[in-house]
Amino acid sequence: MDAKAGIELTSLQGAPLEARVDLLAFTTFGDPSKDSIFKSVDSALGGVLAEVAKSESFDGKTGQSIVVHTHGRIPAKRVLVVGGGKKSEFSNPHIRDVVAIVAQAANKVAAAEVGFLLPTFGANREPLLVQFAAEGVQLGTYKFGRYFTGEDHKRPLALKSFGIFTDSKGKKPTAAQTRAFAAAVARGTQIAIAVNHARDLINEPSAIVTPGALAADAQAIAKKHKGTLSVTVLDAKKCEELGMGMFLAVGKGSDQEPRFIHMTYKPVKKPKKKICFIGKGITFDSGGYSLKPSQAMEDMKVDMSGAAAVISAMDAIATLGSDHEIHAVAACCENLVSGRAYKLGDVLISMDGTTVEINNTDAEGRLTLGDAITYARTKIQPDELFDFATLTGACMVALGPYTAGVMSDHESLVRGWMSVAERTGEDMWRLPLTPRLREQLKSPIADMRNTGDRYGGAITAGLFLKTFAKDTPWVHVDIAGPASLTTTRPSQPKGGTGFVVSTIVEYATRS
Ligand code: BES
Ligand code: MN
Ligand code: ZN
Repeated sequence: MDAKAGIELTSLQGAPLEARVDLLAFTTFGDPSKDSIFKSVDSALGGVLAEVAKSESFDGKTGQSIVVHTHGRIPAKRVLVVGGGKKSEFSNPHIRDVVAIVAQAANKVAAAEVGFLLPTFGANREPLLVQFAAEGVQLGTYKFGRYFTGEDHKRPLALKSFGIFTDSKGKKPTAAQTRAFAAAVARGTQIAIAVNHARDLINEPSAIVTPGALAADAQAIAKKHKGTLSVTVLDAKKCEELGMGMFLAVGKGSDQEPRFIHMTYKPVKKPKKKICFIGKGITFDSGGYSLKPSQAMEDMKVDMSGAAAVISAMDAIATLGSDHEIHAVAACCENLVSGRAYKLGDVLISMDGTTVEINNTDAEGRLTLGDAITYARTKIQPDELFDFATLTGACMVALGPYTAGVMSDHESLVRGWMSVAERTGEDMWRLPLTPRLREQLKSPIADMRNTGDRYGGAITAGLFLKTFAKDTPWVHVDIAGPASLTTTRPSQPKGGTGFVVSTIVEYATRS
């Protein structure tokens, strides 16, 4: 299940038109007849590029591409032009999809060596463009193919080496430039490997990715980083001792034992801050006695996407290093029906003592997260607390499938988080924690009930969690939509996306 960086990324020097590669690729923004790179390659090829562009109606739009064989006119065997859309609208994260298109085209034409001209946006943007290009190589070649038996799926990828031409203006790069390039490539590669690892965990069926399997995965990651990364796994008995009545109730209907995972990264120097990332870890959500209809249940192996994200992110964080003490927490269990399962009308006692009446067993995520938040608040006492959860269908109704809902009452913390998300290109949008909706969580027999009405469902879930975060600076991110998708883009096949891994890693390792 482990992703490997099998493709080498290098910095290429010299004239691209003289590069002896299997595939020479570049981006054209809009009308190719106005693009200087397009024109120079076209003239080297005796005009065939413009001819093909015309006959295939290529006009440099996003998603368009053309490939031509060079027939020996230049040393490169083939040329690939990828449409970049409007140059003024091209933000750094877009390069992931461009590079993913290049990597996929390379594999299709069995090209082992690629030379890619990084589009020029000035020296400032270059490190991030190189990083995201490195991500694009890994993300664009990701496939969850384990269960296909045909020969096609066993063939190794053709692409071996992905070379990047940066805008060196004919000069040899300085030592500092070489270092910056290598650092950006390493960062991008590590982050994308973590994203792909999260994808694997999400795509793998729930019969395989059980709470125990997630714990074993966290342990395997910790083992790779002896000295900086450690992990504690609590079993049901230990959680019982800690009084995690909500978490344990959700897992009761399953034969799979719950596992409470706590990973800790400690920097070599005295940490600046203590940051805790919590991920929802329901390995399968049937809804419990508030049973989901079959269609809604079909994809519920993805309900551990938050846990997959925080566990996977720790691998990259430990590799890249952080000035902060970073914690990842995931309360993992399965929400099933059985003679032992929790029921509607039950009153649960949470780790912080709050009593909760259950009016919907399908609102299970907030119960597991509530106790995870209390654990974090009391045992870790972080300066900053984040949770990531495939929490509500209501959030998808509000924002669509691509955008996560972000809720917080801590202005500076949420702003800092949103700015990192913006830089990594992960779509997030803030929703209010409307205080008046709290009324919906009133219970006639307990401190709270676990579910509000239909309208505002994403927010009442957020308000429920806020009860347990108390005054700890906290941000809640509902990833129910973007965690798993039925539509694709070049850097993202169908299924688990690994959403939020890159923002977590960037947040933890950049400041
Ligand atoms: N895991 C689901 C939310 C979900 C839905 C995730 C679709 C990914 C895709 C969550 O546990 C759930 O069932 N939420 C309920 C809440 C309701 C009972 C208040 C929902 O959204 O219907
Ligand atoms: Mn549910
Ligand atoms: Zn759920």
